[in-house]
Amino acid sequence: MKTILLLATTALAFSSLAAQAGDAGKGEKLYGTHCVACHQATGAGIPGAFPPLAGSDYLADKTAAITVPVKGLQGKVTVNGTEYNSAMPAFGHFPDEDIADIMTYVMGAWGNAGEDVTAEEVAAVR
Ligand code: HEC
Repeated sequence: MKTILLLATTALAFSSLAAQAGDAGKGEKLYGTHCVACHQATGAGIPGAFPPLAGSDYLADKTAAITVPVKGLQGKVTVNGTEYNSAMPAFGHFPDEDIADIMTYVMGAWGNAGEDVTAEEVAAVR
């Protein structure tokens, strides 16, 4: 019984570690260095060139959203009813934790719904 309890507690401790959300504060700094030139500090993007992240309907699909910084994005994409046909570079060389931090920030900034992104979720789309 003791062993089972110990095992259960250990498993719980590990799973809560594994599910640790990205750090939005760190993410904001990384965003300010790596994403802001195109998507802007307001998240509004630049009409006709860079799609918005603020209020973006693309973020509703969390897996798709996380995949963008990991793999980059090119070709036609529709964001909030406007079509873009451009290219975004990949940030796949960033550690999972950094992308989790950035995407946790993006998902919750500028009035976005707010969803935590974990390093495991980033690893899963690689
Ligand atoms: C050089 C400009 C540039 C940089 C830097 C950039 N993006 Fe993008 N991003 C784009 C473009 C252009 C698209 C649309 C690509 C297309 O048309 O296929 C896009 C699309 C997206 C999308 C999906 C569409 C949307 O608007 O929701 C997300 C999410 C995204 N970028 C996140 C990021 C994050 C996070 C970073 C920083 C790690 C970043 N981008 C850095 C240009 C950029």
